[in-house]
Amino acid sequence: MKFFIDTANLDQIREANDLGVLDGVTTNPSLMAKEGIKGVANQREHYLKICEIVEGDVSAEVIATDYEGMIREGEELAALHPQIVVKVPCIESGIKAIRYFTQKGIRTNCTLIFSVGQALLAAKAGATYVSPFVGRLDDISTDGIGLVAQIVEVYSTYDYNTQVLAASIRHTQHIIQCLEVGADVATCPLGAIKGLLKHPLTDSGLATFLADHKKVNG
Ligand code: G3P
Repeated sequence: MKFFIDTANLDQIREANDLGVLDGVTTNPSLMAKEGIKGVANQREHYLKICEIVEGDVSAEVIATDYEGMIREGEELAALHPQIVVKVPCIESGIKAIRYFTQKGIRTNCTLIFSVGQALLAAKAGATYVSPFVGRLDDISTDGIGLVAQIVEVYSTYDYNTQVLAASIRHTQHIIQCLEVGADVATCPLGAIKGLLKHPLTDSGLATFLADHKKVNG
């Protein structure tokens, strides 16, 4: 399973990349706004900075919601850097735009996926990735990981090439569950990625090893 980080924060992207386990980055308009990046030129420059830090795919989301606007914006984003994947919301104009981008060889991430039906349309349009939002489904007492599992199964049955990119991951358990159900990618906050390292027996075991070593070696 590939690991993406779900942030537009350059320090966090650097930290995850330095761990040596990062395969890409996803952003969205809320995450860009959180970093205070205003204006198209600054936003595009920011995407380029992200591409310089990581080697993998970097999702950049269109703001337009009409077909023509999405095409214009998506083509501009894709032209910025070969690592850019154009992120498009799962709405009618978005599905049409994904079909267009697919025919043009532009890679896409169909976002805001909350049902198998939406994932089916995105795959048929040729999306490179679909992003089911795990945490936001859990927030409304629905099984977010269950949706990831369903999409993985349906894509495998029908041999769709679209990769399942589990998004809205909130904690380490979500990541483990993504592994168990066969997600292709999990995009996670830095805290959840680093949380995988933590175990009290690792800490106490290491403390004992070091204490024993000191007893003999001083
Ligand atoms: O990139 C979209 C998604 O990961 C958002 O997560 O925590 O705002 O639901 P969250």
